[in-house]
Amino acid sequence: MTATDLALDISVRRVAQSRLPEIDFNHLPFGRIMTDHIFVADYNGKEWTDLRIEPFAKMSISPANLTLHYGQTIFEGLKAYKTGNHEILVFRPDQNAKRMNKSAVRMYMPEIPEEIFLAGLKELLEIDRNWIPTTQGSSLYIRPLMFATDEYVGLQPSQTYRFIIMCSPVGAYYNKPVKVKVETHFTRAVEGGIGYAKTAGNYAASMLPTQLAIEEGYDQLIWTDGKEHKYVEEAGSMNLMFVINGKLITASTGDSILDGITRKSVIQVAKDMGIEVEERKLAISELIEAIQKGTLQEAFGAGTAATIAQIIQIGYEGIRYELPPVETRKISNAIYKELEDLKYGRIPDQRGWMM
Ligand code: COI
Repeated sequence: MTATDLALDISVRRVAQSRLPEIDFNHLPFGRIMTDHIFVADYNGKEWTDLRIEPFAKMSISPANLTLHYGQTIFEGLKAYKTGNHEILVFRPDQNAKRMNKSAVRMYMPEIPEEIFLAGLKELLEIDRNWIPTTQGSSLYIRPLMFATDEYVGLQPSQTYRFIIMCSPVGAYYNKPVKVKVETHFTRAVEGGIGYAKTAGNYAASMLPTQLAIEEGYDQLIWTDGKEHKYVEEAGSMNLMFVINGKLITASTGDSILDGITRKSVIQVAKDMGIEVEERKLAISELIEAIQKGTLQEAFGAGTAATIAQIIQIGYEGIRYELPPVETRKISNAIYKELEDLKYGRIPDQRGWMM
């Protein structure tokens, strides 16, 4: 995909002085440093207007802002990379634009036209191009966000909204393999709910259960289905994948699981490598049995921020199961390498994924 035909009328107001010289690109945390500019568009109840790039700055918000009370907000996550030739590559941004609109429909918010999403992104990346890290393992995390702007504390959908794209140069989200606990009490999402939408409420609901697991020495949860707590769903920060007897197995998406772009990319790369892939219900009992029998060869999370996050331990009903060493994991290591090579432009983009 090229971005040359994405010109729209976007006004630009630049910072007087860039913060770039203050940034230590050798020690980038995740998501704390923001680039100089943001892209903004406002929805006036009828259409998206006032497309602009402006300095990243604090916003003034009414205490009656509807988002603050009722959480009518959605977001996305994607990444930009710089190649050895200083070309900017963005991984599958069209997929993020489409998914944002699926979230918008579910949360009764206006869709953002794909051309505004992509043109705003392109303009912002050109202006903040020097913020894109070049060190291996680092990238520019891009966070599109839409939220309600009506000032009204009655319960009804907002008439007006703001769409923002902000960017943050980042290092690894997880800097070591993760330990995950199977959650069998709390529920993240249910059929008919909002689990597939990238909306704040899903993440807010995960805070307490995740914090309780962290206090037990875990990094994340394996969420299970809300009805019986018997089947693997996702991890909140990433989708979950397992290699059992040489097959890549992951939960099929639906109402309660995010349709991850890294998830679908991993599946495609695996299939292209000739690996058998099963998208289906995976019972926790099957997972534990596979660990006990030694047929579980690999377990990992897949997400934009997390990339491929190796899972080294799974906790279930008070027992901590240690998983095979990361160095032995042929499939996930090969998929990770192929995706990284693609994102940094080291191999040809045969699937047309990079913008
Ligand atoms: C992403 O991977 O882009 C996400 O939005 C996950 C979030 C927990 C950082």
